[in-house]
Amino acid sequence: MGEIEVKYMKVPSVQELAKKKLVTIPSRYVRDYQDRSIATSNYKQVPVIDMQRLINSNDHDSMNLEQNKLHFAAKDWGFFQVLNHGVGCSVVEKMKHETQKFFDLPLEEKKKFEQPSGDTDGFGQLFVVSDEQKLDWADLFYLKTAPTYLRKPIFSKLYLSLRETIEEYTDEIKTLSMKVLEMLGKALGIDEKEVKSLFEEGMQSMKMNYYPLCPQPDKVMGLTPHSDTTGLTILLQVNETQGLQIRKDGIWIPIEPIPNAFIVNVGDAFEIFSNGIYKSIEHRSVVSSKKERISVATFQSPRLDGILGPSSSLATVHNPPKFKKIGVSEYYKGFFTRELVGKSYVDTMRITNEDNLKN
Ligand code: OGA
Ligand code: NI
Repeated sequence: MGEIEVKYMKVPSVQELAKKKLVTIPSRYVRDYQDRSIATSNYKQVPVIDMQRLINSNDHDSMNLEQNKLHFAAKDWGFFQVLNHGVGCSVVEKMKHETQKFFDLPLEEKKKFEQPSGDTDGFGQLFVVSDEQKLDWADLFYLKTAPTYLRKPIFSKLYLSLRETIEEYTDEIKTLSMKVLEMLGKALGIDEKEVKSLFEEGMQSMKMNYYPLCPQPDKVMGLTPHSDTTGLTILLQVNETQGLQIRKDGIWIPIEPIPNAFIVNVGDAFEIFSNGIYKSIEHRSVVSSKKERISVATFQSPRLDGILGPSSSLATVHNPPKFKKIGVSEYYKGFFTRELVGKSYVDTMRITNEDNLKN
């Protein structure tokens, strides 16, 4: 991925824009259309998975129950929250603190970590490829974290407290991501070795999202509806402002984060790997007029020299593959060089009737 050259346009910091206390917001942020089919009351929340139960083989019954719950969570929701996840409380608190501290820095300080042109890593925005495109009401800081050879020079320029915290946090998140990926594999009957060989040396990246408060929150989007390209995403809600919504059965459902839990979702790469059994669900972030919102997403992706396609344990003669095979670097190149639009990218990998006729 190091070689991918992106052509993103520079956009102003939304946090600075929000400080101007505008009454009406600039038109580039105003969405022509916003899907307001939002669940209002009594909607179901995403399943909650207890990781300790999931891996405690001393209690087979509750392990099986939890495994079942995980399977249906990934199949029907594509999203769940995990409790007893093993990531240390103090490292989570440090990560929250450092993220808040980073966005609180004056703009000139943050600009020291600005995305260099042509690169994804750094402080700025992603996926802005044209002047006409609507912009998200957010600033972000994106970094590739592992394997270490993927880190960009910006990473080593980070001040010590931030760098050390990111290293410690992403290390622990990696362990959790692998546990969840292996458990998902197990629930599908995929050989553990196959999961490990695709993801263990995979690319890990993180995105710190800052959604400033907005005088007209109903007119903007904090983060455009999209699905994640990754294998698995682990989201940390940094402060108490909520804003994540997921699209289920045509309705946007707000996620209510539970204390000490992470929000986890299946990404496109795992949807493909599971031959479509597990779903990578569209989600978006909305913003508030009262308080800013901060989140940290950590993405565990397949290894860049690997091949992505339906697992050989799942795609058989009787159950034909639903997705084409693609080299992982090519997959990422395609993703980072286009605009982010819903699930349109994974759709390009689907095997269609036309493809079947050709064969
Ligand atoms: C993401 C994402 C959601 C949020 O960064 O891919 O979906 O609530 N974030 O910030
Ligand atoms: Ni996302």
